Amino acid sequence: MADAKKLYIKTYGCQMNVYDSERMAEALEGDGYEQTQDMGEADMILLNTCHIREKAAEKVYSDLGRLKPLHDKKPDLKIGVAGCVAQAEGPEIMRRQPMVDLVVGPQTYHRLPEMMKEVDAGRSALDTDFPEEDKFDHLPKRVLPARNPSAFLTVQEGCDKFCAFCVVPYTRGAEVSRPATRILSEAQALVERGVREITLLGQNVNAYHGHERGLAGLIWDLAEIDDLKRIRFTTSHPNDMDDALIHAHGTCEKLMPYLHLPVQSGSDRILKAMNRKHTANQYRDIIARIRDARPDLMFSGDFIVGFPGETDEDFEATMQLVRDVHYGQAYSFKYSARPGTPAAEKEDVPADVATDRLHRLQALLTEQQYQTQADMVGRQVNVLFEKRGRQDGQLIGKSEYLHAVHAEASAELIGTVQPVEITKNMTNSLTGQLVSN
Ligand code: 5AD
Ligand code: SF4
Repeated sequence: MADAKKLYIKTYGCQMNVYDSERMAEALEGDGYEQTQDMGEADMILLNTCHIREKAAEKVYSDLGRLKPLHDKKPDLKIGVAGCVAQAEGPEIMRRQPMVDLVVGPQTYHRLPEMMKEVDAGRSALDTDFPEEDKFDHLPKRVLPARNPSAFLTVQEGCDKFCAFCVVPYTRGAEVSRPATRILSEAQALVERGVREITLLGQNVNAYHGHERGLAGLIWDLAEIDDLKRIRFTTSHPNDMDDALIHAHGTCEKLMPYLHLPVQSGSDRILKAMNRKHTANQYRDIIARIRDARPDLMFSGDFIVGFPGETDEDFEATMQLVRDVHYGQAYSFKYSARPGTPAAEKEDVPADVATDRLHRLQALLTEQQYQTQADMVGRQVNVLFEKRGRQDGQLIGKSEYLHAVHAEASAELIGTVQPVEITKNMTNSLTGQLVSN
């Protein structure tokens, strides 16, 4: 048999891209490609891209520019662009970088093997359809042992919310939920391959409707799988946090006490302009109801500063909301006008004002994150060990609150959940000691 060809994938952006990259690697395995971590030895380089903010999209073009010398030295090297930039700017990518052989959108990567036939015949291939068929039905079954006891599983894709700043409804298309039966069998297969924690993924995951009882129904069915120890889901919209899901947070032991619930702004005026369809107080109320159900639940969020028309007063309302909720961690971004979105038509807030607001918000969020981590010291948490740490004899895993935890433990404990007492707060992780039972 000929030596396997090497495939190098670079993944940008969200967790859904991480999942898609894995599936693309599997789709190309049938074509004799084996994944490598070394770009230098690759026969094919695939960039799985993100279009959410201008910076992310521009990074793809600068990375392509940097690949040019490698391509000149190795003319047989195949270069592909996948993901949301491919979807939004396919022909433009081929025009700006003619060395690109293949452009594939997020809904058509199951067609990669056919596209590779075109590429191998010396032609370029572009496919950014939103096809009728479901890519998941056409992808190879996942058979290899899992590389990590924690895995992602896409259950829902696309978005019908049309927030005024967001490209997702255009790049990922309309909201589509995968049928629960398929998800349950994929989860079962993951568990047989050693997975112990599944994070259900969707751009609007709590709007999932592939189960008659929605996302909560799917979670309860997944909880029946014995060797599956932990369930998480991301990303959610506040308006889709229904009673059944809130109740599951209080009663389903396998559902972890961590929730990413983006609000974007604390100002009702800006929320309205963003087309978020809820007020800041409605969000506060949802948080209170979830905390009633599960008092120790840790919240994460997303914020945008400098949305067109945002005043100092609007920004102060965002700061106040952050103070009220107290996030365990959160992401904050400067507004970036995206082509084709309604907000892109409006006038931007001056760049220095937006930068100053971002710094102030990030300082507050960092302080809250530090405080949350510091409060963990002395507490006992449960850690799912995922891999060896950098230091000999040390493992790394995640607590139920998604904190990375380092502890001295034998490698046999990888893939198991263990009680750990937290002893120290590091900047981006915690250190702890195994509690002997
Ligand atoms: N500008 C800045 N941030 C954005 N996000 C989405 N679109 C934009 C944009 N145009 C942020 C939102 C979203 C997260 C994934 O990215 O906060 O929740
Ligand atoms: Fe984008 Fe999320 Fe709004 Fe959908 S709900 S449009 S994915 S920010």
